[in-house]
Order: sequence, then structure tokens, then C-alpha cells
Amino acid sequence: MTSTLLRGRTLSFLRWPETVDDHSAWRYEDDGGLLLRDGRIVAAGAYADVEKKADEGAKKIDHRPHLLLPGFIDAHAHFPQMQVIASHGAELLDWLNTYTFPEETKFQNAQHGRRIARLFLDEVVRHGTTTVAAYCSVHRESAEAFFAESHDRNMLNIAGKVMMDRNAPEGVLDTAQSAYDDSKALIADWHGKGRQHYAITPRFAITSSPEQLEMADALCREHPDLHMQTHLSENHAEIAFTLQLHPKARDYTDVYEHYGLLGRKSLFGHCIHLSEREADALSDSGSVAVFCPTSNLFLGSGLFDYQRYRRREKPLRIAAATDVGGGTNYSMLRTMDEGYKVIALNGEKLNPFQSFWQLTRGNAEALSVVEKIGTLDPGSDADIVVLDARATPAMRLRIETVGTLAEELFLLQTLGDDRAVREVYVAGRAAKSDMAV
Ligand code: GUN
Ligand code: ZN
Repeated sequence: MTSTLLRGRTLSFLRWPETVDDHSAWRYEDDGGLLLRDGRIVAAGAYADVEKKADEGAKKIDHRPHLLLPGFIDAHAHFPQMQVIASHGAELLDWLNTYTFPEETKFQNAQHGRRIARLFLDEVVRHGTTTVAAYCSVHRESAEAFFAESHDRNMLNIAGKVMMDRNAPEGVLDTAQSAYDDSKALIADWHGKGRQHYAITPRFAITSSPEQLEMADALCREHPDLHMQTHLSENHAEIAFTLQLHPKARDYTDVYEHYGLLGRKSLFGHCIHLSEREADALSDSGSVAVFCPTSNLFLGSGLFDYQRYRRREKPLRIAAATDVGGGTNYSMLRTMDEGYKVIALNGEKLNPFQSFWQLTRGNAEALSVVEKIGTLDPGSDADIVVLDARATPAMRLRIETVGTLAEELFLLQTLGDDRAVREVYVAGRAAKSDMAV
């Protein structure tokens, strides 16, 4: 049994950091050690202490002076949209009809799906992301491809075949029954296989008929431990069309509520234009609002009011995500940089510890997987990102005037991207340096 001993500056969160002086919210070791065995972290702390627990043959890797954090978690992305990123000039519904749905038709071809799944997981890992909650296309083959690639890499990923049976081209439509049958087969084949998690994935209320939403409800009831992911309240035209299609609903959230789709494992992408009633309903059910800043800015959808949602009497559980390919970057650092600006436009600031909490423990809690990932606690899976705040000439210059850990994190968030990611461990395996690219 081989083990690996990592050395570096380790940072892991215990809870939401109220301020940059809230030191008991995180654990930071200036000379830290992590002992990895069988894909898990078995010891963490000061290097001198952890080294004593390592066996003779442990492989030692010295990452000093870099930072070691839990791998980043992306709570919402579309793997079939790698060739949709950077499509110019449309708002949500036009963007879907003009670029996204035609692109997703290509995933009928299993080989295409496998190629893009491989490139997608390479790309997210290169950017320091070790877990993603992914939408596949409507085609069962696309989910097969994603899970096969994910399983081969031993990644903890959450994914599902999109369910969509109306208001889209023929090549990306299923039926209420085939969506149920295909989801059922995928759950049987993949959920719980290694580190794979299946998410029931009705795309959104516009593309799922009432019969299909009933099928999604049935799947959730039959598999209460599974995630459910969909889109909610992203843009005004989408909301208006949804209410036209569901005239009896009190509001957009009520459509999903009616079909029993709210709950602690329900992930709602965007949630920008919620009424107080809708926010209360999400809060009461423990549902998660997923903040996708680069996408919301790119498509001009609106400004997610992070601090209001967090501070309201009935707070929302919040995750952060890229929403590739509406989102414009695979990097969670770039995502939180844009997130910071969105929150600033709402008159608030997120401190750097809060941002890095969100990317790690915060997203793990929101996805209900914090027992496995999102911290460097012993017992956790060994998903780790190694960050270099001197990765580029501009960063090297700026860091000359940086004096605190908070400032270093903020520099990483503001100027960092894949170049700042020196290494990524997936279940204890060095995955970034392993890549051909
Ligand atoms: N709403 C329904 N489908 C999508 C999608 O693929 N991307 C975004 N941003 N919103 C959606
Ligand atoms: Zn999305």
C-alpha cells in the first residue's frame, strides 16, 4: 500500500468566515502536511506531525511555497456546450435555439460524446476543479460517455441525462416515457458506481411537458437520495414563457413545487429574479440556488443577489458554478472574480476567505457531499488543488506588495486562472501533471 506525503501551505474551511479576522473559520498551516492513502486524506496538520505518521516508503512531494486547498467544485455546467462557448449576441432563449440546441443534437453520436466528455474533464481538472455537477445532452449515450470518462479518472462527479420533450428541435427531444426509462437505466448502471452520482435532470419548465415533470417527480420519489438539477428564473422572457405554459402556477418556482421537485438535493441554476415567496419556498425546502456569474453577465440575464439571499430571514443555500457554455470560463477562480463584481454591483463585497469557502466547503455543503469532499479533513477523499500566486509576470509583480493570506487569495481570484493551478490531485492521483496537454 503506497502513500503520498504532500508538503505545502494548507488551507481548509470549517465554516463560513464572517470576516478576514475570523480565524477559527479555517485551518491554515504555513508548513502543512497531507498524508494520502488509498485515495483518501489520512492525516493533516503541521508537516512535522504528519511526517511522523507516514510510512517509510511514502512518496514525498514538496509543493512549497504553494497553497494546497480542497479541489474546486463547480455546481452547474453543461459538458455538451464546449463548442457553444463564445457564441455571440443573444439572450437566453435565442441563444438556446440558435446555438445550443443545434450543437447538442451532435451528441446522438456516442463517439462525439466520448470525445467531448474526455476534453471537458481534462479542461475542468486543468483549471483545478475536481467535482462538477454536469448536464449531459438529452441522449442517453452522452451520459454514458460522461460517466465512463469520469469513472476512468476516479472523479466524484454528479451528472444526468437532460429530460426535454417539447419546445426544441426534434434531434434533442425525448418523450416523457423514454426520459423516465433512460434515466432509470442510467441510474442502475452508474449511480454509486465508484464515485459517480446520478442527478435527475429536467432541463427546465419550458422544455418539459407536465407529463415529463410528473416522470421527474416519480424518479425523485423512487430515488430520494439522488440529486435533481434544473434551471429557474434566469431571464424575464423565460419567466414569461414559463408562466404562459403553466397558467395555473403562482410563479416559476411553483411549477417545480407542484411537481414535488424542491428539496435539499435539488439544485436550481440561476434563481436571479425570485419573488420573496419563491425565495421562501426554496428556503423552506432546503433547495439550493446556484450562482453562475459569468453566464449571467454574458447572456445579460441579471445580477444574482448573493448577500440578500444569504442574509434574509429565511436564507437560501447557495452554490457557485461556471454554467459552461453560457458561462465563459472553466475556471472557478475566474468565476468568483466575476461573482465578486456581480455582488459589488448589488452594493456588497465578498471577502476572499468567503470566496474560497464557497468554492470548496460551501459548494460541498450545498451539494450535500461535504462528508466526502470540500475539506482537507482526515477521512476526506484526496481531491486537492495546488495554487501558485506567482504564476504569471503580472502576479509576480503584484505579490511583491501582498502581505496577508487574504490578499494572496484575492490576488489568486482576481488574476488567477489555469496557469495558477500547479497540480491537481484526484483521489490522491496527480492528475494535472499526468495530462498530455
Ligand atoms: N436554461 C435551459 N437550458 C439552459 C442552458 O443550457 N444554459 C443556460 N444558461 N440556461 C438554460
Ligand atoms: Zn445551465
